[in-house]
Amino acid sequence: MVTATMLLSVFLLSSALADCSKESALFITAPKNMEALSGSCLLIPCNFSAIPDQDFNSTRTTFGVWIKHDIHFSDQTNNVIFNSSRVYNSYPMNITGDLSQKSCTTLFSRLSTNYTETYYFRIENRPFLATAVCDPQRIIVKDPPNNITENTDQTFTTKIQKTITLSDTHDGLTISCSATYPVNEGRGVKTAEERKTLSVSYAPKNTSVSISPSGLVSAAPVEPSPPPASAGSRTAKMEPSV
Ligand SMILES: *[C@@H]1O[C@H](CO)[C@@H](O)[C@H](O)[C@H]1NC(C)=O
Ligand SMILES: *[C@@H]1O[C@H](CO)[C@@H](O)[C@H](O)[C@H]1NC(C)=O
Ligand SMILES: *[C@@H]1O[C@H](CO)[C@@H](O)[C@H](O)[C@H]1NC(C)=O
Ligand SMILES: *[C@@H]1O[C@H](CO)[C@@H](O)[C@H](O)[C@H]1NC(C)=O
Ligand SMILES: *[C@@H]1O[C@H](CO)[C@@H](O)[C@H](O)[C@H]1NC(C)=O
Ligand SMILES: *[C@@H]1O[C@H](CO)[C@@H](O)[C@H](O)[C@H]1NC(C)=O
Ligand SMILES: *[C@@H]1O[C@H](CO)[C@@H](O)[C@H](O)[C@H]1NC(C)=O
Repeated sequence: MVTATMLLSVFLLSSALADCSKESALFITAPKNMEALSGSCLLIPCNFSAIPDQDFNSTRTTFGVWIKHDIHFSDQTNNVIFNSSRVYNSYPMNITGDLSQKSCTTLFSRLSTNYTETYYFRIENRPFLATAVCDPQRIIVKDPPNNITENTDQTFTTKIQKTITLSDTHDGLTISCSATYPVNEGRGVKTAEERKTLSVSYAPKNTSVSISPSGLVSAAPVEPSPPPASAGSRTAKMEPSV
């Protein structure tokens, strides 16, 4: 047992942590952990600084590089998944930030779950070459809930069905439904909200209330059914769509 624990700690030390304890010449500021849905894209807001600062000179050609999994890429060149000097890269990434202004903001497109990894940023501004070994960037890509469907016009629809038992004490109650979604390549979020006031004044029926934050709001009774034993019980449905 003791042996196993020691082996584990040796293994952990041999990875990034050990390299970070050496003096790093490059640091980035970016969200450490990011999560995104497969099929979407992710904007990584990022800036960097060189230590010492004068080693980086923006008048020289600058390349930004993303390396996956392990900072030691010389014998694993497949881990160099993006190099801004190249037109074709193995990962659908682009540095949209201005490297000369020390921005390493990166757009990661067409995400799929197999891109869940730890990434390291590197600057090549010869003779200044440095990898931000102390700033691993963790990205988790998850599959969206399978009840989200993509429409032909690039919008998405999801349905959330909630059954609540109503009585006339709920008359005038407001049901609100909101949906939050990323806009502008992930730079911001938007929230759509709709409210619907319940009217529970007539004999119980199987009623469906449909709320759609994108604009459409409708309420329609479906399948009139005989009043159940517990008077005043009915079903409400909320269907937000964005
Ligand atoms: C990134 O920019 C922010 C705000 O300007 C600054 O506080 C931070 O130190 C910068 N990070 C690096 C690594 O240069
Ligand atoms: C950057 O390089 C240019 C040209 O080589 C030089 O003139 C300038 O002084 C350098 N800037 C710094 C801050 O070292
Ligand atoms: C990035 O591209 C430049 C120019 O082609 C090359 O010199 C450099 O070795 C590449 N960097 C890595 C980490 O592969
Ligand atoms: C990256 O940017 C270039 C030039 O703007 C563009 O041609 C290319 O399609 C982009 N790649 C991705 C994966 O978005
Ligand atoms: C990840 O999956 C996508 C889509 O299935 C595929 O195109 C891509 O080559 C895969 N990449 C890696 C590194 O496995
Ligand atoms: C959609 O999926 C989520 C997560 O799997 C689940 O919680 C929710 O109840 C589902 N909604 C419907 C209408 O199936
Ligand atoms: C209301 O209708 C749904 C399907 O439309 C049905 O499953 C449910 O049993 C009905 N409820 C009542 C109280 O009749």
